[in-house]
Amino acid sequence: MRPENLKTKLFLDGGDPHETKEIIDLLGFLDGQTTNPTLISKNPNARKRLEQGDKFSREEIFNFYHFVVREISGLIPQGSISVEVYADASTSAEQMMKQGREMFSWIPNAHIKFPTATEGLKAAQQAVKEGLRVNMTLCFSQEQAAAVYAATLGAKRGNVYVSPFIGRLDDRGENGMDLIANILCMYRKGNAHVEVLTASVRSLDHLFYALKLGSDIITAPFAILKEWGQKGLPMPRNDYVYHGGNLKAIPYKNIDLTKKWTDYDIHHELTDKGMEKFSQDWNALLK
Ligand code: G3P
Repeated sequence: MRPENLKTKLFLDGGDPHETKEIIDLLGFLDGQTTNPTLISKNPNARKRLEQGDKFSREEIFNFYHFVVREISGLIPQGSISVEVYADASTSAEQMMKQGREMFSWIPNAHIKFPTATEGLKAAQQAVKEGLRVNMTLCFSQEQAAAVYAATLGAKRGNVYVSPFIGRLDDRGENGMDLIANILCMYRKGNAHVEVLTASVRSLDHLFYALKLGSDIITAPFAILKEWGQKGLPMPRNDYVYHGGNLKAIPYKNIDLTKKWTDYDIHHELTDKGMEKFSQDWNALLK
């Protein structure tokens, strides 16, 4: 059962509907799910097909993604399901939008994931104008979150998520959780139309601290939600303190939210690397 004081929405980060079902059975609720090309490439049916030496055509892989997403959507009809466009370094905003429109029509409760890079932000700006819901992924800096805010101004709350990837910052010695705290603090100066979705969660401590900070949404992998469920869905106590250990603090920047999105310095090497990895994993499925 959902803990009474749980205000944050909890999503599963995964590409296998069996996991979705198991988590719903264990927790008694689930508010949504995030998927991405790497997670879809790990789906057991996709793995089985690949092990038999049978790769997918472009059309088949999109049909496969569609099928998986439809199954997940059926399990969480009231929740949000994030579906990610294919985007490598050369994918244009128009190409992303073409996929985004198609994916948005797959299920009634989709958020379309675009990378927080120039073409992805252009696509997001257009997408919200057309009434699509978006989830801006691979966010690693406060400037990128400011650009998401500015590019999607005018959108209704609930239609725009930004996904800072905390685990990948931790991996390179920076305290990823600081980024969540900083973005939440920066957004308090704005109109609250963007929801912060804590992503790349690697531990129960990430989950607890994101809950304590009041992240709007948290997406966590199967193993973490299972651990949390098996422990009885504990919530962080008021005196909970997150220990970043040796991780380097990420200082808060006083960023003006009223600029045009193109005026922010949005480049981050982890966004480039992330897009590269997602597209490689996707392409590895193709004939
Ligand atoms: O939701 C984002 C997530 O799938 C990325 O996680 O562990 O690959 O950094 P990770």
